[in-house]
Amino acid sequence: MASLVQPTGPAHTRILSLGAARGDLDVPNDDLVGPIDSSDEWIRQRTGIVQRRRASAAVGAVDLAVAAGEEAIAESGLDRGDIDGIIISTISNVALTPSMASLAAHRLGLTPAAAFDISAACAGYVYGVAQADALVRAGTCTNVLVIGAEKLSDIVDPTDRSISFLLGDGAGAVIVGASDHPGIGPTVWGSDGEKWDAIRMTSTFEEYRNNPGEVPWPTLRQDGQTVFRWAVWEMAKVARRTLELSGIAPGDLAAFIPHQANMRIVDEFAKQLKLPESVVVARDIEMQGNTSAASVPLAMHALRAEHPDLSGGLALTIGFGAGLVYGAQVVEIP
Ligand SMILES: CC(C)(COP(=O)(O)OP(=O)(O)OC[C@H]1O[C@@H](n2cnc3c(N)ncnc32)[C@H](O)[C@@H]1OP(=O)(O)O)[C@@H](O)C(=O)NCCC(=O)NCCS
Repeated sequence: MASLVQPTGPAHTRILSLGAARGDLDVPNDDLVGPIDSSDEWIRQRTGIVQRRRASAAVGAVDLAVAAGEEAIAESGLDRGDIDGIIISTISNVALTPSMASLAAHRLGLTPAAAFDISAACAGYVYGVAQADALVRAGTCTNVLVIGAEKLSDIVDPTDRSISFLLGDGAGAVIVGASDHPGIGPTVWGSDGEKWDAIRMTSTFEEYRNNPGEVPWPTLRQDGQTVFRWAVWEMAKVARRTLELSGIAPGDLAAFIPHQANMRIVDEFAKQLKLPESVVVARDIEMQGNTSAASVPLAMHALRAEHPDLSGGLALTIGFGAGLVYGAQVVEIP
């Protein structure tokens, strides 16, 4: 009997390159405070956000994804034909189907790359890197473009006090491919569906359809304190476990790049992990806002631009959000 061929890939992978695209509009706190009875001071104190970048009406999440993808492809120096997978993590695709990834693949000249989207909210980029790493090491793909792309301004209600002021628009991209040394550590990931509604849509599409005129168009909402407590306590444990499994001490890190949810969460993490002063902490949220799946790669892109010497250093990345879901990895910064 013939023996079935089962492929294997290279022993190691790393992130080969980075790309980023930010919304073209600077939206300061003062532009949003009226309908939510808030103030610039309150938002700065509670979240560290000074402004968020948002995209104009004509720019969609897929446009941001394509722009970020172009930069990552150019930086990698790869031929487009050698990129055989594209994964987009997003919660702001304008259609349930088809995927944003297949359209972006076409526009990026990557056809016939395997293309699919991931719905893992603010953990989506880390989930994407976990997938890409596994696909390459299994020999299923050679190089995978992973993009976190969001136009969250499309799914917020400007009168919602719980989350609208946090969110921005952007896309961050990386290419994952073979490496001669370990460049992506073990992924620690998981979910806690008991808190399924801690960050949620105000209604389902079904409720919207079945109650015309009564149920408004679904937008994002959250129980801020539930998410805050969960993030600070549970995610610090996930971060510590990721370092342990990776065989890395806090002092071995060059950078800490957590999901840019809230500056107070970022600061609390850094404290709990006892990061030495030498570890550069990403604080992209201040001028960009929270961009869900795009936030970690956008923050990595900004950090490397500001500190080029971080290239080749190790970064602890962690994403967490609606689901609730979470994921973390130590990666080498390209
Ligand atoms: C949303 C968040 C900033 C709210 O901050 P908070 O300190 O928890 O605020 P609270 O809900 O405890 O409310 C405190 C006070 O501020 C008021 N408040 C709530 N939202 C407000 C807003 N947008 N503007 C002004 N005041 C507001 C409340 O009414 C309350 O007033 P009171 O003390 O007079 O009753 C915070 O909970 C948070 O960032 N949580 C994590 C969210 C997150 O990261 N989500 C994304 C996950 S991916």
